[in-house]
Amino acid sequence: MPTQLKAFVHTLRFEAEDIISIELRPAPGAAAFPAFSAGSHIDLHLPNGMVRSYSLLNDPKEQHRYVLGVLKDRASRGGSRCVHEQLRIGMVLEISAPRNNFALQEDAPHSVLVAGGIGVTPLLCMAQRLQTLGRSFQVLYCARSRAHAAFVADIEALGAPVLWHFDTEKGGPPDLAALLQNTAAQAVQQGRVGGAADIHFYACGPAVMLDAFEKHCQTLGFTNAHVERFSAVEVAAASDARSTYTVELRRSGKVITVTPELSLLQAIEAARVSVATSCQEGICGSCETPVLEGTPDHRDSVLSAAERAANRSMMVCVSGCKTERLVLDL
Ligand code: FES
Repeated sequence: MPTQLKAFVHTLRFEAEDIISIELRPAPGAAAFPAFSAGSHIDLHLPNGMVRSYSLLNDPKEQHRYVLGVLKDRASRGGSRCVHEQLRIGMVLEISAPRNNFALQEDAPHSVLVAGGIGVTPLLCMAQRLQTLGRSFQVLYCARSRAHAAFVADIEALGAPVLWHFDTEKGGPPDLAALLQNTAAQAVQQGRVGGAADIHFYACGPAVMLDAFEKHCQTLGFTNAHVERFSAVEVAAASDARSTYTVELRRSGKVITVTPELSLLQAIEAARVSVATSCQEGICGSCETPVLEGTPDHRDSVLSAAERAANRSMMVCVSGCKTERLVLDL
């Protein structure tokens, strides 16, 4: 199980239309918060029993607090609504230690941070880190309107170049392909990088924007493209995925069988073996489990293509298996 921490709600602040920030500090008498790296997120155990993951937005050099930004999602299944309606200053919550599925390449010669709405949160954290390191970077910030754009003043205070796109002012959503291409061309022209392939691009925002971002980066040959998703991508089972297979949980000394009626996670839980979970949709990384033998059928949105190919770990909440037998370090 990942480390659990006790935090108290120190500050709640209105940041933009439907967006609040939550500053957490260690609960009285509880352990200090561990340090975190840019792009990290934590799990919040909410008063309604739900567990939700949120990116940390504050500067990683801050040791005393974690700050999150939460959009009240109209399609909320209860998580963001609970944050907005039930959290109170002084409330003590259980949180996980920070995890990072969206790590910053700190030595990149130039970085482009592409924010869509509330997706700005991990990118604001990255921007502060890049500024501390004295690295070259640019921000592209897209939102429905200025009223819906949170942390604008924080970004402006960094003094880095920012390209703002507000749909209501520009008459519609951005032409992302053109924005990416122009931004890269400008960085090359200014001598920040030798070529566009040296730039690292990071995007966080709605799924439709991230899908477009990945597609455009691929077409434009921008190989250093990184995304952080807060909703799962539907990944169908591979054609060679098995519907029935056995799994050895080596540390627990148990062997279980996964059948079409029972997912891998359900089979693990039925064997009373504990595995940390949060989203159960393959987006948070809580359930990442080392693979000792066998070939998983990766269906998560966390691992990169290279990490999938390496088959060193898998998200057991959504993934399956391509071999008759899988051995997990559980
Ligand atoms: S529980 Fe979130 S990725 Fe598996």
